[in-house]
Amino acid sequence: MVSFHADVAPIFAMHCNGCHGEAGKLSLRSHSDALRGGNLGKVIIADDAERSLLIHFVDGRRGEAHRMPIGGRPLSARQIETLRRWIDEGAKADAPAAKQILRRTDVRLPTRITCRIPVSAYLTIEILHPATGAVLWSETASLKSPPEQNDAGPPGQPLHWDLRQAPGWPATVIVQLTIEHAASLPVNAEFLIAPMPR
Ligand code: HEC
Repeated sequence: MVSFHADVAPIFAMHCNGCHGEAGKLSLRSHSDALRGGNLGKVIIADDAERSLLIHFVDGRRGEAHRMPIGGRPLSARQIETLRRWIDEGAKADAPAAKQILRRTDVRLPTRITCRIPVSAYLTIEILHPATGAVLWSETASLKSPPEQNDAGPPGQPLHWDLRQAPGWPATVIVQLTIEHAASLPVNAEFLIAPMPR
């Protein structure tokens, strides 16, 4: 049985979310988003991969100009088969896969956040309000080898985010890094908070 969280979500995260991660249009960031569909309506028809537009868009049936990921390497036959089997088995959700969450508290802004992850992974970096836990800012990044257009780079490449206090933010915040879809967790991650370089 194909698992959504172990098998399908990593394909979406590493190959699709760079363009299909935002609210509004087709989002493949969660099981419920993926089943909701996009501009063309539902793209996944449970139990029927053959009629599911998502499959038509990844196997080239819609024409090369629309083969997903646009401008990237086509998915491998094995990845497409994984998506097909998951849909034919009912396109079900299952228990979420493990995440590694690293937090730095009392971070004074402005700051430079640096992280280095030695393996292929999908990262979410967030600024949280220390009192309410509300997400003030967030960004995602995928690392894989070799990297494609929408990836932040290959594993091991240092990533930086320079952040200033935005209107309405407290002076100190929580910085949270979530690591998902790595081959095994926890990974040996570098996660540094330092003054912003001048
Ligand atoms: C580089 C950006 C990019 C990437 C990466 C990408 N897409 Fe798309 N996708 C688009 C654009 C732009 C459209 C709309 C234009 C079109 O249909 O060609 C689209 C449309 C779609 C549609 C049509 C449904 C709708 O309602 O819009 C599906 C299904 C889809 N993509 C699935 C995927 C899947 C699955 C992946 C990963 C394997 C993926 N895409 C990766 C840019 C991308």
